Amino acid sequence: SSFTDYQAESATISQGVVASNHAGFTGSGFVDYDNVAGSSVEFAVSAAAAGTQSLTFRFANGTTADRPMTITVNGSTVAAGRSFPGTGAWTTWQEITVNAQLRAGGNTVRATAATANGGPNLDRLRVTGPGDTEKPTP
Ligand code: GCU
Repeated sequence: SSFTDYQAESATISQGVVASNHAGFTGSGFVDYDNVAGSSVEFAVSAAAAGTQSLTFRFANGTTADRPMTITVNGSTVAAGRSFPGTGAWTTWQEITVNAQLRAGGNTVRATAATANGGPNLDRLRVTGPGDTEKPTP
């Protein structure tokens, strides 16, 4: 089994800031998206081979309103307005998974806020390779 973690605070952030004021994140912090549509985080993801992989986003949304985001891979939309629902508290982190085709070598995976509320707080992206049956854990 294999997976690779990419921390949001190390990714390319557009209209957001690195923060660490809500416990439970992995790495050194998380990205607090600006409360505006179009704010985004882009991860540089390397794949050993082309194929379908699982993109698991770890996030917190301490509001009761969904914070949908559009997920693109290499500029193509793989999930439009994917739900990032309320998690109950900013310190409660959950995961959602989108499956997508990656190419061998370098890929970009971007999560862009679809509404004026902006994105949730984003902790990391876990990329799980084909054939991996291990359940992602925090
Ligand atoms: C609060 C919270 C932030 C969050 C923000 C938001 O300010 O402390 O972590 O990002 O709400 O609504 O996006």
